[in-house]
Amino acid sequence: MLLKGKNVIVTGSGRGIGKAVAIACAREGANIGLLARTLEEINNTKQEIESLGFGVKIIVKTADVTIYDEVADAFKFFHDNLGLLNGVVANAGASRMGNTHEFDNERFANILNVNVLGVFHTFKAAYPYLKKDDKNEKARFVITGSAAYPMGMPKFTAYVAAKYAVVGIQSVLVAEYKKENINFNMVLPTQVDTRMLRSRKAGDGNKPDYVLNPWDLNDYYLFLLSDYANRVDNALIYSSDFTEVKKFLSKAPSGKTESWEVFKTYLEENSPKIYANVKKLGKLVDFIIKSSK
Ligand SMILES: NC(=O)c1ccc[n+]([C@@H]2O[C@H](COP(=O)([O-])OP(=O)(O)OC[C@H]3O[C@@H](n4cnc5c(N)ncnc54)[C@H](OP(=O)(O)O)[C@@H]3O)[C@@H](O)[C@H]2O)c1
Repeated sequence: MLLKGKNVIVTGSGRGIGKAVAIACAREGANIGLLARTLEEINNTKQEIESLGFGVKIIVKTADVTIYDEVADAFKFFHDNLGLLNGVVANAGASRMGNTHEFDNERFANILNVNVLGVFHTFKAAYPYLKKDDKNEKARFVITGSAAYPMGMPKFTAYVAAKYAVVGIQSVLVAEYKKENINFNMVLPTQVDTRMLRSRKAGDGNKPDYVLNPWDLNDYYLFLLSDYANRVDNALIYSSDFTEVKKFLSKAPSGKTESWEVFKTYLEENSPKIYANVKKLGKLVDFIIKSSK
């Protein structure tokens, strides 16, 4: 098991991507802290994990990531119940589409608050409880960014601004905490079948093919939280690149898919652009190969 005995907190884990990540981490043996505003939803995630019988501890705590005191209380509670934290996934997010010149001011501020201030609050509240005493087993802080960075998505000004901002936050944290045993990395998904994208239709089985399932991202989070990524820092994992890598892996001749070492020449010949985008993350490609077996 990849995360046996580790303690991982996932914000925004009542549904969508955060829920899928929490279940995947529990399956790999991690004890999980679940955080969102809606108690019923995080309790549902807890029950779903318990029904799978992984035998891990699941702690739930409601908090609004825009309110620091609530986030600080939640992290104290997680620490009291689980001990030091090995990984935190700052995933809670919110979005809304609308013409910029008509966009409601308060809603604009709220989107920035959830996606930007929420990440800051999560880091600040988690920091005292991160297990940072071992350079061979660094603490992990993983942010859910978005392929909205670096893209101008019309009618998503607040959301795009927020997802640009968290890339800036990550680069500062990497530099500022360089001497401490914490790695900072980000997953930047394209469109995913969650309530954020498809409202109440999420999970209805009618998503377009190009829209990912929430669990299609699990590999990236598991990799970043696992020992395989102990030396991976400041990575931006674009799901679009790795979706392509997976397609190339599925059609490459046998003998070319055993490891990154042999696959990379095939990828470079067939898609120099994707190769250039992923070549620093060969360990993740190895991880994807290993977990597909
Ligand atoms: N879906 C996509 O296409 C897509 C693409 C790229 C990136 N992302 C990113 O993925 C992350 C997860 O989104 P999702 O697609 O899984 O959306 P989702 O299904 O709507 O889930 C969002 C989660 O965040 C929580 N949340 C929202 N506001 C919060 C707040 N103020 N305090 C605490 N928790 C809050 C929600 O719970 P409560 O409402 O109960 O608080 C829920 O658990 C976000 O950062 C999003 O920007 C999504």
